[in-house]
Amino acid sequence: MSAPEPIIEVDGVTTVLGGHVIHRDLDLTVYRGEVVALIGGSGSGKTTLLRLLLGLEVPQAGSVKIFGHPLGRCAARDLERVRYRWGVLFQNGALFSALNVFDNIALPLRELKSVPPDLVKPLVMLKLAQVGLKPDDAFKRPAELSGGMVKRVSLARALILDPQLLFLDEPTAGLDPDSAKQFVKLLRRLREELELTVVMVTHDVDTLFAVVDRVAVLADQHIIACGPLAEVARMPHSFVRNFFLGHLERCAEEDVKRFRLSLDDTSDEGGVPAVLRGEAVS
Ligand SMILES: Nc1ncnc2c1ncn2[C@@H]1O[C@H](COP(=O)(O)OP(=O)(O)OP(=O)(O)O)[C@@H](O)[C@H]1O
Ligand SMILES: [Mg+2]
Repeated sequence: MSAPEPIIEVDGVTTVLGGHVIHRDLDLTVYRGEVVALIGGSGSGKTTLLRLLLGLEVPQAGSVKIFGHPLGRCAARDLERVRYRWGVLFQNGALFSALNVFDNIALPLRELKSVPPDLVKPLVMLKLAQVGLKPDDAFKRPAELSGGMVKRVSLARALILDPQLLFLDEPTAGLDPDSAKQFVKLLRRLREELELTVVMVTHDVDTLFAVVDRVAVLADQHIIACGPLAEVARMPHSFVRNFFLGHLERCAEEDVKRFRLSLDDTSDEGGVPAVLRGEAVS
């Protein structure tokens, strides 16, 4: 078997914001096809780490490589090319309130001008369906959407350029348990269909159990561990202990498998049309 291909390589990063050291000597590697969750206390620097990976913050020391390109040192044109290979769902959804759902999702396509104008509509409507929204939703403004719908629209926008890498910042925060479950099922399916590599910040234990391959823990200004759920959950660190309090008995590999199977068993598919699930429609 060939060696796993690193998609993200963070090496010895120090980040200083407003005179405060947020990260010190932080390392993280994410491989192609993985779903890696980033967990850590509020204010520990998770969003800032995502912003570093997106080239929106520049580290004071160390290096960040995405798809093998060093972010700080690659030419503007190379950086642009790398940027179009990832999609981002920001912590607050970050939809433009003046634009309707259709125009929000179409924005990256129109900015990039990579497809002829007459293809924009079918592509946007396809993504809308893929995230389980109805065609009518395309004409709503962000203020008219529920929290779960905002997440779905943001996800559709993040997926519009068919990225290989997806960054999600708290994708299920603020959703009721049922909407969160639907969202997680949607992610599981998209991950399989689109062969995505995903980096996801989350506080939600069920999301971890449902989709994640490895868990990276950000504490004390760096990644103190990055490994399988069962391994990380048993770390003696106080943040990790509190995070998994009451959930340790679910962490064994067999229990995680059983939980994932139980999600697959439930019939509700979150509104995704059968044709997009690869099922025959009569
Ligand atoms: N632009 C900025 N200037 C100065 N300090 C900042 C800036 N952005 C973030 N910080 C600080 O950096 C620290 C980490 O913030 P960050 O948003 O990365 O935390 P987080 O782990 O994502 O937290 P949460 O779980 O609450 O979203 C916080 O102390 C925050 O106040
Ligand atoms: Mg954050």
